[in-house]
Amino acid sequence: MLTRASVLAKLIFSLSSASGAPIQPSRNVQQEGKEQDPLLLRAARGEAVEHTPVWMMRQAGRHMQAYRDLVDRYPTFRQRSELPDVSRDISLQPFRAYGVDGVILFSDILTPLPAMGVDFDISEGGTISIQPVRTREAFAKLKRIDVKTACPFVGEVLGDLRAEVGHAAAVLGFIGLPFTLATYVVEGQTGVATGFSQIRRLRHEDPKLLHDILLLLADNIADYACYQIDSGAMIIQVFDSWAGHLPDDAFREFALPYQKKVIDEIKRRHPETPIIIYMAPGEYSREGRRLAQLARTGADIVSIDHTIDFRRAREIVPDGIGIQGNLDPKVLRDGPLEEIREQTERILDAARGTRHIMNLGHGIEPDTPESHAAFFVKTVQSYATDR
Ligand code: CP3
Repeated sequence: MLTRASVLAKLIFSLSSASGAPIQPSRNVQQEGKEQDPLLLRAARGEAVEHTPVWMMRQAGRHMQAYRDLVDRYPTFRQRSELPDVSRDISLQPFRAYGVDGVILFSDILTPLPAMGVDFDISEGGTISIQPVRTREAFAKLKRIDVKTACPFVGEVLGDLRAEVGHAAAVLGFIGLPFTLATYVVEGQTGVATGFSQIRRLRHEDPKLLHDILLLLADNIADYACYQIDSGAMIIQVFDSWAGHLPDDAFREFALPYQKKVIDEIKRRHPETPIIIYMAPGEYSREGRRLAQLARTGADIVSIDHTIDFRRAREIVPDGIGIQGNLDPKVLRDGPLEEIREQTERILDAARGTRHIMNLGHGIEPDTPESHAAFFVKTVQSYATDR
């Protein structure tokens, strides 16, 4: 049987015999001569890696001039996210500009809704409008979706991204978890503007209807995540951004079981695909108050916000689960560079020897200078793991 060493020796010999001088395999080539999986994917699986991978939530979008330049030609968010060539190019903009280790699909958590019978629109100013679903009659019109025929553009973009980035970065897909999606479907707009009042009312007045909505969303969204994996997504990030507004009992009843249902179904069909879970800082989630629960959802990595110190988060999240985060997006926006470096290195120091993916505590602020984003990525990628 050939050992790894003998395969390597043969490889070096065959390379050197062709050119006369011995050639060392490049750092990105495994000893077997096969290219390694992307750094972010290996880190997400919990393998030891040469440096901490880095990407930024909401990295594709308004903070980049290249994105703002496209807005004249493709004025609506739905065009930019549903025309495959446009969505693909936007997804690649931060990869090309900063060399991030992760390329996330340019899309939205709302993208699969029209296929379920819930139409939506996003104005140029970012205002979301949706046909609200608050009654049994409205719910009866919603349907299970066949994701392949419903969102073919998403599959096409993910396939293109894989072909484009090869092993240089990991391609991420993403979904909104049922509670967070339900806030949009029930409010008919962002719950941030309404104080989540309609979904709170439904929780009390017709919890059975809300459970039926959540269940349908869970089944559809699990299919949609699996479709993204089948199409090329190597990692799935699942967002329950607004579940941090739920008090304990409501969280246990309306958010947690549906988080688990979606994650269980993705894991059943794609056990090898790492899942990252994120919740935004809210009244009941800030300062790590939901971390222990998020760590038990079956996700491989918990993406933490910036309201908790990394070391404290590491104490709460068990060792077998990775942590993503947690630079404050306002620090990245405001700088100065020295402050960005200090805070980034403080997190990297605290994370040393643990399973960690560098990211922000929430999405990048739209008025973040590109020079700050570039500096942050470079700081992480040049941080020496052995110092
Ligand atoms: O921010 C989070 O908590 C992440 C989860 C989330 C996304 N979309 C992911 C996303 C949430 C809660 C949404 C809903 C949504 N959709 C919002 C948030 C705030 C609100 O008002 O409720 C907004 C602004 C939209 C519409 C939208 N989505 C726009 C206008 C854009 C593009 C440009 C930009 O810079 O904002 C998106 C893109 C988007 N939303 C991505 C993701 C993962 C794209 C990929 C990326 O991360 O770069």
